[in-house]
Amino acid sequence: MAILCKAMILLPILQLAISLTAAYGGNFNQDFDVTWGDGRAKIMNYGQLLTLSLDKASGSGFQSKNEYLFGKIDMQLKLVPGNSAGTVTAYYLKSAGSNWDEIDFEFLGNLSGDPYILHTNIFTQGKGDREQQFYLWFDPTRNFHTYSILWNPQHIIFSVDGRPIRVFKNAEAIGVPFLNKQPMRIYSSLWNADDWATRGGLIKTDWTKAPFTAAYRNFNANACVWSSGSSSCTSGSSSSSSNAWLTQELDVTNHRMLRWVRKNYMIYNYCTDLKRFPQGLPAECKF
Ligand SMILES: *[C@@H]1O[C@H](CO)[C@@H](O)[C@H](O)[C@H]1NC(C)=O
Repeated sequence: MAILCKAMILLPILQLAISLTAAYGGNFNQDFDVTWGDGRAKIMNYGQLLTLSLDKASGSGFQSKNEYLFGKIDMQLKLVPGNSAGTVTAYYLKSAGSNWDEIDFEFLGNLSGDPYILHTNIFTQGKGDREQQFYLWFDPTRNFHTYSILWNPQHIIFSVDGRPIRVFKNAEAIGVPFLNKQPMRIYSSLWNADDWATRGGLIKTDWTKAPFTAAYRNFNANACVWSSGSSSCTSGSSSSSSNAWLTQELDVTNHRMLRWVRKNYMIYNYCTDLKRFPQGLPAECKF
């Protein structure tokens, strides 16, 4: 089995027991637990739809039952419509402990008609400060859109509707820790952050518009599921049974799309913020 061998070579130190299992379809009842919000998070349509809501008393959230070490993880989100100023919908992967790893998508709400900010960050061993922010090229509240994280031993690629928006390369060679030792869970929550979210906290949540609701569907994980110290890689609900994502790279078209997003929609990049890093940009910025 070529696929098995490739995976084994890629991850030798982890001594992973890799096995391919049959189709793995997304079902919120099967894959996630509602963790807080006292009834404000709801799983509906036989597990096909999940909604989070936020009112003055509380937000809500859920987390994956599984922990993953590498994966291509897709989720469709439809964000809080109308006046969502002050609200934040967070969708992220995070490991446990005080030296945690984390990959973040955070959607910062706005006044009706004003653009959401998609805020991204990466933590390695408890250290973040790697923010990049984007506007979107569509209204994320009208329809569901796909937000994906490709996380393999070479890099992490954030994508929106299949367009790469951000790449974080494995720069261990120059001393930057990579996210390859700690399994992470998927988390999501909808909460009030009107002290900073919209125009830096200037615009507050309008509670007369509550409850605020965000919706999720079509979760798919082609991922390696962590269980008692070893990892087994599934091939998702897509018909392909290959684990090509484990070695997937950006092709020419992907590079072009990434450049297009960065040129037209990126509004903040820590890697160009010399004011913030007067003694030099973080090492991975030059890698
Ligand atoms: C909200 O809209 C304002 C005005 O267009 C914009 O400056 C800001 O970046 C938008 N997003 C957030 C989350 O503040």
